[in-house]
Amino acid sequence: MAPLALALAAAVAAAPLVRAGVYPIAESMAGDTFLQGWNWPDSFYDNTTSGEVFWYGSAEWNSSSPLIYKTAKGTTIMKVDDTSTVVANPWHTTKRFAPKLLSKRAYGVGTVWVLDAIHMPYGCSVWPAFWTVGPKWPVGGEIDIMEGIHNQPVNQMALHSAEDGCYAPQTNQALMTGDWGSLNCSIGYSYGSGCTARDTDPASYGAGFAAAGGGVFVAEWAPEAIKIWFIPRARVPAALTADAKSIDTSTLGTPTGYWGNKDCTFTRYFGPQTLILQTTLCGVWAGLESTLAANGCTGYASGEDCYTTYVNGDGSNYRTAYYEINYVNIFNAAVSTTPGVEGGLPADGPVAGNNNLGRQQATSVSSSITTEADGATSLVQVTVTQNVPDVADAPTAVTTASRKSGAKSRIGSALALASLAVFVAGLF
Ligand SMILES: *[C@@H]1O[C@H](CO)[C@@H](O)[C@H](O)[C@H]1NC(C)=O
Ligand SMILES: *[C@@H]1O[C@H](CO)[C@@H](O)[C@H](O)[C@H]1NC(C)=O
Ligand SMILES: *[C@@H]1O[C@H](CO)[C@@H](O)[C@H](O)[C@H]1NC(C)=O
Repeated sequence: MAPLALALAAAVAAAPLVRAGVYPIAESMAGDTFLQGWNWPDSFYDNTTSGEVFWYGSAEWNSSSPLIYKTAKGTTIMKVDDTSTVVANPWHTTKRFAPKLLSKRAYGVGTVWVLDAIHMPYGCSVWPAFWTVGPKWPVGGEIDIMEGIHNQPVNQMALHSAEDGCYAPQTNQALMTGDWGSLNCSIGYSYGSGCTARDTDPASYGAGFAAAGGGVFVAEWAPEAIKIWFIPRARVPAALTADAKSIDTSTLGTPTGYWGNKDCTFTRYFGPQTLILQTTLCGVWAGLESTLAANGCTGYASGEDCYTTYVNGDGSNYRTAYYEINYVNIFNAAVSTTPGVEGGLPADGPVAGNNNLGRQQATSVSSSITTEADGATSLVQVTVTQNVPDVADAPTAVTTASRKSGAKSRIGSALALASLAVFVAGLF
């Protein structure tokens, strides 16, 4: 497989940076090439936030109602399953499928990540995130570019470091339009909330985002700072397009969130970042009843919880739990040769973890997930002969897939995960 983006980036990489703030395109994911730059998660379970989802992957391609597909106008829909009926049980072995994609390549300082979307997932129990993670979370840091729960009024950004030493002092406020929040980025501080910044624009999240026609999230890791912008549709500069050859962040104005290198040596606390786009349900943040009222959702009935209240049932709670994406672009002087955290680079070929499957795969591929360290048995034996279907052009090719023995043999893992929640709480 030879990603188009590689050839493109090789051509531009030869041109040196003209000035700070200008970054050439390295990878572009849009329309027919949307899935080209991503891996599926290695894990079937949400092992970072303990959400009540099974990650959607190649084994689910056969579905007549795919959760990731291209629309007639060329946008990509990436949605939580809102049509299957889930019957909740005390062991939480039934869940709802939801998508998670991880970039094949990780990038360090000198990178700009861009998401242009028309709609983002929201609603009670829904927890979307567009974020990056270092090589061995929490070591290697984490940048939350877009994140929230339920009907949160505005977007919340955050940085997380594994160790003490990374801060976002209140003086940052003068350098950003959003509201400065918690100052200590260390995962060990204050339940791991990270050093946060909140947008003030209701268009930055949920129903407000959709009403504004969506917008663009831009995250820049420059030597002097990590900066995040949210730009609502009406103000998106003409130069920011799916096929832009470069981005000049100096034209974007004051960032929404700003974290200066003076108070956090990013190259010390942050490793190469893998970009992740996902939606989970409930879990260690959105599952907490205490989060409902402030985010436009009512409390649970007696004896009920997030899983039995929302995930249970026919899926009609999740009609707004989808992304509609114009494109995801990664700008850097060169296409990275550092693999992302799960799966490998395209040159690795299909490996355990459903690596390399997606729209660009027109021919048969066999893949399996082997027995994992936690004792879970092989989950998937897969043959894929399918591209991502267009809406108007329902799945045609055949996929044989099996999750047999999966759910049952992994109950132990799932329960063990619950006890890990305290360690993963830092992800929000
Ligand atoms: C989740 O599980 C996958 C597959 O076993 C693994 O590669 C990944 O590192 C895990 N993530 C965390 C945070 O444990
Ligand atoms: C920041 O958090 C770390 C980890 O909990 C802690 O060791 C450190 O003392 C905190 N710093 C301040 C200034 O509170
Ligand atoms: C996939 O779909 C085909 C065609 O509808 C069907 O024959 C096959 O049994 C399905 N495979 C699985 C594993 O559901």
